[in-house]
Amino acid sequence: MLRATAEAGINIALIKYWGKRDDELNLPAVGSISLTLCELGSRSTVHFDPALSADSFVLDTVERTDPRVFGTLDAVRQIAGLSTKARVESFNTVPTASGLASSASGAAALATAAWHAAGLPPGLDPRLADITRINSGSGPRSLLGGLVELDRESGQPVQLLPAADWDLAMVVAVLGRGPKAVSSRVGMARSRKSSPYFAQWVASHPADLQAARAAIMHRDLEQLGVLMEHSTQKMHACMLASKPALMYWRPATIAALEAIHALRTKGVGVWSTMDAGPHVKALCQRGDAAQVHRALLATDGVDEVLVTTPGPGTRLL
Ligand code: PMV
Repeated sequence: MLRATAEAGINIALIKYWGKRDDELNLPAVGSISLTLCELGSRSTVHFDPALSADSFVLDTVERTDPRVFGTLDAVRQIAGLSTKARVESFNTVPTASGLASSASGAAALATAAWHAAGLPPGLDPRLADITRINSGSGPRSLLGGLVELDRESGQPVQLLPAADWDLAMVVAVLGRGPKAVSSRVGMARSRKSSPYFAQWVASHPADLQAARAAIMHRDLEQLGVLMEHSTQKMHACMLASKPALMYWRPATIAALEAIHALRTKGVGVWSTMDAGPHVKALCQRGDAAQVHRALLATDGVDEVLVTTPGPGTRLL
């Protein structure tokens, strides 16, 4: 087979990843735990075609030159002993221009499609995770479904709990559109180099991971939610103390965080997280998602609210 299509869901970190310890292999300075989502993601088709004289890449119907995509093809060709050029066609099912990161699902779908199109053996090969990680540091987490840990040492993903085993929802409040001001890659390098809190961020991280693993094992949403908020705020404190400061927040970010806090004081089990952007994501039981959706939609400056649920790992179509 020289052609394959794969689909992957985006993932949102609960215990966050920020900072690299090896730029070339894209190995993280800290481990992370994430939730792979069902409703938002990427689809990628790779066709190794002997008639082609060069690789090509089309994303959402627009032709692009992306060295990371071509690097992924090279890495797969090297393992498979292939020299054939490929055509890559990818789509993001994340709403267009929502500004939500789709790089992780894009990397997982691309690497998986290329791997299978090149005829490499099925199953989660560590080399497939390595190839995915080179493209996106958080990408290997999307190879697996449900709650997933990315191990700091190996850079490999491990499933902690399948999607079907816990009735969770992630309600995503989209605030503002367009690309982020500073990419994660550039921001992480800046924090490592200049933030006085970076060393503390790394040193205090293993305890969060350990506590989160226990909370997941016991399906203790409150415990997990508290850890998630703390990990998020520590990451943003580290970002803010970088030189120059990495400030991803907007006024509506605070309003959305306050809306989540207000729900909690009314007894709803809901906790917030954010990534390298202004959007706010709320973790809750699936039965509470409609209420969280309503509250976030009524918040000033929130453009759109999406209810998502845990999803499977990357699959071939
Ligand atoms: O994989 P990247 O380079 O897009 O980095 C992801 C970084 C955060 O979203 C801020 C945190 C995380 O663990 O996903």
